[in-house]
Amino acid sequence: MTLTTGKQIGWIGLGRMGEAMSKRLLKAGHKVSVWNRTASKAAPLVEYGATIVGTKQDLAHCDFVFTMVSTTNDLKEVLFGEGGLVAGSVKPKVVIDSSSISQEGSAEVRQRLEAMGVGYLCSPVSGNAKVAKAGKLLQVASGPKALYTEIEPCLQAMARKVMWVGEGELARIWKIAHNTMFGVVIQNLCEITVLAEKAGIPRHIFLESINDSVLGSMYTRYKTPTLTNLTFDQVTFTPKLLLKDMDLGLAAARAYGVAMPAAAATRESVSRMVGRGHDDIDFAVLLQETAADAGLVLTSENVKMSDGLES
Ligand SMILES: NC(=O)c1ccc[n+]([C@@H]2O[C@H](COP(=O)([O-])OP(=O)(O)OC[C@H]3O[C@@H](n4cnc5c(N)ncnc54)[C@H](OP(=O)(O)O)[C@@H]3O)[C@@H](O)[C@H]2O)c1
Repeated sequence: MTLTTGKQIGWIGLGRMGEAMSKRLLKAGHKVSVWNRTASKAAPLVEYGATIVGTKQDLAHCDFVFTMVSTTNDLKEVLFGEGGLVAGSVKPKVVIDSSSISQEGSAEVRQRLEAMGVGYLCSPVSGNAKVAKAGKLLQVASGPKALYTEIEPCLQAMARKVMWVGEGELARIWKIAHNTMFGVVIQNLCEITVLAEKAGIPRHIFLESINDSVLGSMYTRYKTPTLTNLTFDQVTFTPKLLLKDMDLGLAAARAYGVAMPAAAATRESVSRMVGRGHDDIDFAVLLQETAADAGLVLTSENVKMSDGLES
C-alpha cells in the first residue's frame, strides 16, 4: 500500500528524470502541481492528475517542492532568480532537490533557504528515467533527519529503496561518488567490449557473459541492448551531463585529498567525446568512439534482448 502525505506537492523540472519521477508520485495518489521552463513537457502529466502552473511562484504555497534540473546554477536560478520559487513573499515549507549538483553549491542553497525559514533536503537518485519509470530508483537523502522522516512517504513512491545518509550535503558526496563509478564503469565496459570484438567475440555474446559473471550489474545489463544495437539516439543521459559529474568527482577528490587515477582518465575520455560534438545522444556512444580509436567500425548486431527493467 502506498502512503500519501496529504500535503500539497510542487515539482520544478520535467526533463527525462523529473517527468518519470513526478509521474510516480501522481500514480501513488499524491496531489502534485508542476512547472517546467519548456511548458509543453508538462502537458502529458495532466492525464495522471497533475495541475500545471504558469509560474514557479505559483508553487510557493506548497508544503513540499521537488526540484530536478541540470546544474547548480540552474537550481539557484529556479529558486532565487527572477520569479524564482522563493523570490516572493510566500515560501514553501520544504525544498527537496534531486539534481546532481556540487556539495558547495548545495551548501550555499541550504544556507540561503534555511535563512528564509525554508527546510532543505538533498535527495539525489541512482538510476535513469527508465529505471525511475519502473519504480527501481535508489533515492538517497541528507539534511535534518526529522525532515527526511516527513518526506519519506514521497520518496518511497518514487524509489525501490530510500536511505538517509546523514546531515547537510552528505547525499551530494554519495551521488558524486556514485556517478564517478558510473563513468569509470562505462569507460571500462566500452574498452573491454571493443577489445573482445576486435579479437573476434560478437558483442552481444561478450556482454551477456559479463552480465552473468561476478562483474555483471543492473547497470551493465540495462546498457547491454544499447551497446549491442547501437541505439544511442534513445537518450538516457548525455555526454555533457556525464562530464559535469566526472568534474564534480574530481573536484571533490581534490578537496578531500584523494587520488582518483581511473576517474581522471575517464574524465578526459568523456571530455573528448563532448568535444567531438556528441550532444543530444546517449553517453553510451562512448563505445563507438572507443572503437574508432581502435580502428574498428561498429555495426548494430540487431539482437532482441532484455534490459532487465521490465516491470
Ligand atoms: N538522466 C539520468 O540518467 C540521470 C540519472 C540521475 C540523475 N540525473 C541528474 O538529474 C538532473 C536532470 O537530468 P535529466 O536527465 O532529467 O536532464 P534533462 O532531461 O536535460 O532535464 C533537465 C530539466 O531541467 C530544466 N532546467 C535546466 N536548466 C533550467 C533553468 N535554468 N531554469 C529552469 N529549468 C531548467 C529543464 O527544463 P527544459 O525542459 O525547459 O529544458 C528540464 O526540465 C541532472 O542533474 C542529472 O545529472 C540524471
